[in-house]
Amino acid sequence: MGLKEEISKRRTFGIISHPDAGKTTLTEKLLLFGGAIQTAGAVKNNKIKKSATSDFMEIEKQRGISVATSVMAFQYGGKQINILDTPGHKDFAEDTYRTLTAVDSVILVIDCANGVESQTEKLMEVCRMRNTPVIVFVNKMDREGKEAFDLLDELEEKLDIKVRPLSWPIGMGDRFKGVYNLHRKNLNLFDANKTKIERDIVNIENLDDPKLEEIVGEQFAGELREEAELVEGVYEAFDRDKYLAGEVAPVFFGSALNNFGVQELLDTFIEISPEPRGRMTDTELIKPDNKKFSGFVFKIHANIDPKHRDRIAFLRIVSGTFERNTFYQHVRLNKKFKFANPTSFMAQSKEVVDEAYPGDVVGLYDTGNFKIGDTLTEGDDFMFKGIPSFSPEIFKEVQNDDPMKTKQLEKGIQQLTDEGVAQLFTIQPGNRKVIGTVGELQFEVIQYRLEHEYGAKASFKFKPHHKACWMTTDNEEKLDEFIKRKLNNIAYDKDGNPVFLADSPFLLTQAETDYPEIKFHRTSEFK
Ligand code: G4P
Repeated sequence: MGLKEEISKRRTFGIISHPDAGKTTLTEKLLLFGGAIQTAGAVKNNKIKKSATSDFMEIEKQRGISVATSVMAFQYGGKQINILDTPGHKDFAEDTYRTLTAVDSVILVIDCANGVESQTEKLMEVCRMRNTPVIVFVNKMDREGKEAFDLLDELEEKLDIKVRPLSWPIGMGDRFKGVYNLHRKNLNLFDANKTKIERDIVNIENLDDPKLEEIVGEQFAGELREEAELVEGVYEAFDRDKYLAGEVAPVFFGSALNNFGVQELLDTFIEISPEPRGRMTDTELIKPDNKKFSGFVFKIHANIDPKHRDRIAFLRIVSGTFERNTFYQHVRLNKKFKFANPTSFMAQSKEVVDEAYPGDVVGLYDTGNFKIGDTLTEGDDFMFKGIPSFSPEIFKEVQNDDPMKTKQLEKGIQQLTDEGVAQLFTIQPGNRKVIGTVGELQFEVIQYRLEHEYGAKASFKFKPHHKACWMTTDNEEKLDEFIKRKLNNIAYDKDGNPVFLADSPFLLTQAETDYPEIKFHRTSEFK
C-alpha cells in the first residue's frame, strides 16, 4: 500500500470530557466494536478518584497498563483508528492539552444531566485554538437529564461553537425509547443491554410513516415529528466542511453504558472525521504525504519503578514513513538517533513496529534525550509548532532539604519538567527555582519522584502568583524597563523566555494598561 492509502485509512482522535461523564465507558464500547477487546470491563479505568498521592502512586505502579492504554489502536470499517487517551483528572489537564495537539479530531462526551461542566469548557478552549473538529456525544440518556433543546443551547453558549444534531432522542430516563438518526433516517430502539452489539434498526425515511406510531406509540411519535421539524427549521443542514473547520459540532445522543448510540457514533465518525492532517513549523505546513518522515513528541511517560528507569517518548508521525532502525535527526540536539524497538499500542498490548505512518503514534524508548515538543526529521532542521505551555495556576519555590544532594535535585527537576510533569521558572538573582502546575497533586508527585528516583529531598514554598504570562514586544527598551521594575516577579522559562508572574488579575491588567507596548500571553506560543 502506498503512503497516500495508508494516510487515508487512519483516524487519530481523542475523547474528552469532564470526569464522570462517561469517557472510559465510551472508549471501552468503541474498542468492543473494533474487536480490540472481547468483554466489557477490560479497559482499566485509570482515573484518580481522589486527589490522593497514594492513588496516584498505585496507578504509577501499574504503569505498564496505563502506558498500553495511552494509545488504543483498532481496525473498524476498513479504517485504522487510533484513540489517544487523555487523563480526566483536572490536575493532569496540561497532559491532556498536549495530547490534544497530537489528535486530528475529538469526541466530546457530555452528561445529559450535568450539561457543560468546567473541564469541558477548558478542553474546548484548547480545541478551538487549533480549530480541531469536534463531535459531541450526549451520554446517559437512560437517566433523567436536561431537555435536548436546552442542552444544545447550552453547548452553543458555553462552548462558543455551533451545533447540529444528527440524531434525536425519543424520551429520556425511564421513558427513553431510542434515537432517530436524522442523518441516516432510521430509528434505533433502546433496550437496556450492556453487552449487545447488533441492534434493531428500523428504516423510517419519512417521519409521517404510520410505522412510527406502531413502534413508539402515539405520544412519542407526535413529539418526535414536532421536534424533528423544529430541528430542521432551527439548525442549518449538516455541512461537513464546517465541521472539519471546527465551526460546527455534530451532536449524537445515547447511553455508553448500555452500548446505545455508540455504533452510529462510530459509523458517522469514520464517515466524516478528518484524515491525518499536516502540522505547522515556524515557516511552513508539513503535509502528511510529504515523502520525508517527520514527527513530534507530545508526551513522555516515565517508569517510576527504580529498577526500570526507562522512559517512553510518544511520537506523533506527521509525514512520510517512520522506519525501525533508521537514523533520524533530533532537531533540538542536532544529533542523529535510531530506534531499535519502537512500539505501537494495540488496545491492551504493545508491540514492536517496523513501519508507522502519519497519524500513528509510536513509543520510543528514551534515556533522557527527549523533551515535550521535540521534532524528529529525516534531516530537515525545522521544528513543529503547536505544543504550547499553558500558564500554570499554582506556583511554589523549590527548597533543597538535603544540600549534599544538590546535583541530584537539579537533575531531577530538569528531567521531570522535561517530561512535562510541571513547568520550571528561574528567578534571578539567586537562581531560585519556581515550579508551576495546574494541580496540587503534581507537587506530591514531584517530591515523591525526586526522592525515589533521584535520591534528592525537596519541599515547596507557596508563592502567591496568579498567572505566568510570556511577554513579547517590538519595543525592547520598554520590556527592559518593565523587567527592571518588576524584578521580583520576573522569571525565565526553560528556554530562557522572560515571564511575568502576576500576583493577581488586577496587577496583570494594570501591567497591560501601563505597558501597552508589551503583549502578555497566557500560553508560551503566540501567533
Ligand atoms: P469518565 O471516564 O468520563 O470519568 O466516566 P466513566 O466512563 O468512568 O463513567 C462514570 C460513571 O458513569 C460510571 O459509574 C459509569 O458506569 C457511569 N455511566 C457511563 N455511561 C453511562 C450511561 O450511559 N448511563 C448511566 N446511567 N451511567 C453511565 P460509576 O458508578 O462512577 O463507576 P462504576 O463503578 O460503575 O465503574
